[in-house]
Amino acid sequence: MSVQISPSILSADFARLAEEARAVEGADWLHVDVMDNHFVPNLTLGVPVVESLGRATSTPIDCHLMIEEPDRWAPAYVDAGAGSVTFHVEAAAAPVRLAREIRAKGARASMALKPATPIEPYEDLLPELDMLLVMTVEPGFGGQAFLDIMLPKIRRVRSLIDRHGLDLWLQIDGGVSSETIERCAEAGADVFVAGSAVYGAEDPAAAVRALRAQAQAARAR
Ligand code: DX5
Ligand code: ZN
Repeated sequence: MSVQISPSILSADFARLAEEARAVEGADWLHVDVMDNHFVPNLTLGVPVVESLGRATSTPIDCHLMIEEPDRWAPAYVDAGAGSVTFHVEAAAAPVRLAREIRAKGARASMALKPATPIEPYEDLLPELDMLLVMTVEPGFGGQAFLDIMLPKIRRVRSLIDRHGLDLWLQIDGGVSSETIERCAEAGADVFVAGSAVYGAEDPAAAVRALRAQAQAARAR
């Protein structure tokens, strides 16, 4: 799988979301963080904003649901136009059923692990997924420091994917920047979410290109 960059609009100006979405149009995905003030201690946006964003940009939407009861709410994000929907395994009642429902509705199904959640209990679920998200910060806020202690988990997920011969993308989210992206790419990540490193830059589109080049060079090593 080649390197993909998914800028997180959590670090964008929420009063100018359409413009901010268009500022990263060379990116592979637009990462939209949905938070409900219960699963994480922060509140962002929901289905109507995802629908509007979909009309405002041609970049596919990568919805990261940091919410309770994803079994109940995730399908509505597919209907809202998301091309990929990520739920947290810690919150899902029936992750296999949910992943199948997301796929059946026509989106890519993705499952996220918080830093303290191991991959090993979920090895048998991997064929049900299109992407696995390894969080490299505790979910809830942009601009946090990258957790280096997650690198061994990234390596373990990569070797499981390879061992089972799966076509499964490995996304990382949290603290991804020019300082940290190479380590993650070397460990086996291929889809990189970056919020503050993109929207905190003078030129967000140039920041996307620079991160992509760094990750591609590191993966080729
Ligand atoms: C945090 C969100 C991230 C956040 C990343 O819980 O899931 O997508 O926007 O922000 P940075 O890249 O600034 O760590
Ligand atoms: Zn996210």
